[in-house]
Amino acid sequence: MAKQIGFVVVGCGVIGKTHAEQVSAIEGAKLLGVVDEVPELAQKLAEQYGVPGFSRLEDALALPGVDVVTVGTPSGLHGEVAVAAARAGKHVIVEKPIEVNLTKADEMIAECRRHGVKLCVISQHRFDPATIEVKRRVTAGELGNMILGEAAVNWYRSQAYYDSGDWRGTWALDGGGALMNQSIHSIDLLQYLMGPVKSVSAHVRTASHERIEVEDVAVAVVEFVDGGVGTIVGTTAAYPGLSTRVECMGTRGTAVIERDRLTHLYIKPEEAAAGGNYGHRGAVNLAADGVVDAAGAAADPAAISQNAHRAQFLDMIEAVREGREPLVNGEEGRKPLEIILAIYRSAQTGEKVTLPL
Ligand SMILES: NC(=O)c1ccc[n+]([C@@H]2O[C@H](COP(=O)([O-])OP(=O)(O)OC[C@H]3O[C@@H](n4cnc5c(N)ncnc54)[C@H](O)[C@@H]3O)[C@@H](O)[C@H]2O)c1
Repeated sequence: MAKQIGFVVVGCGVIGKTHAEQVSAIEGAKLLGVVDEVPELAQKLAEQYGVPGFSRLEDALALPGVDVVTVGTPSGLHGEVAVAAARAGKHVIVEKPIEVNLTKADEMIAECRRHGVKLCVISQHRFDPATIEVKRRVTAGELGNMILGEAAVNWYRSQAYYDSGDWRGTWALDGGGALMNQSIHSIDLLQYLMGPVKSVSAHVRTASHERIEVEDVAVAVVEFVDGGVGTIVGTTAAYPGLSTRVECMGTRGTAVIERDRLTHLYIKPEEAAAGGNYGHRGAVNLAADGVVDAAGAAADPAAISQNAHRAQFLDMIEAVREGREPLVNGEEGRKPLEIILAIYRSAQTGEKVTLPL
């Protein structure tokens, strides 16, 4: 039987609860302890799962049998927890964004490599069946050359959401707003499906919330390395929380992922090239379900899909057991961070920004 993988969950807030729930639900994984700098929060989650709760990370790292540490602290504190865990010889699962700047992200990646531990960055929507299907077809060339990509995350977060934690909406700890916290998932999917980003030109605004330093509205025009172009639209001001869309258009077909579901998938048959002058009537939608879920995370951050998180945890457990890289390792998790930082730089300078930064 495969060795049991022992977990410590750090950060007992919205996402820490998801981590504890996922670990407890996975056969072969065992939750050994939880950590939060607020002792009452650690105790509450600890009691729920019958494990010890700690306010100091080092006490949890000293527990016997700890293999993996999950990091669900505010984004600008991911690095210090991850580096401490790596130095203690523990594998790391860190929430998105990997960190709030590239220096800290690079330190995490380097420290994990130096200590021979795996680093997994949560980007759970890469594990959605819709993403897997589109990625497979894009990689196989079924959509042709990728020429146009759009990511649109028209979400809503209330003023109360931003007021619910001192760190929310700050540059130091949230690292950004609608893009860095919410749209990062779709930005990651866009670059995963369309290929690496060459440049961005952007505008951002703080248009609809008070007492936040970061953007709640953002638009960017993107050039991809492979020649395609695209747009990124992200907001937390779209009352009451609308859709999340990633659209990928190639020379031979189109895929649309809406609210994490594959809603449209068209592949142009050879004979369509000789068809009419306009849209091709009668094109078959190959999307399996064509159905869209209700509001979900567009309106409520706790309503994220649990299945996708579980799939990514399973990938990491397999990576640890087999000594391979997780699908979203540190280098992969760094990519959407770099794109978003380039967007912020472009918005600030008014110039097109070329990657790498
Ligand atoms: N993958 C997703 O869909 C998803 C969803 C929500 C949040 N997140 C990410 O998870 C992270 C946390 O977000 P949240 O909404 O759960 O925040 P939260 O404020 O609800 O929880 C953060 C917790 O960390 C604790 N904490 C702060 N500093 C700490 C430290 N040094 N050591 C231990 N605990 C500490 C806080 O007391 C708090 O309980 C963020 O990076 C966010 O981007 C990801």
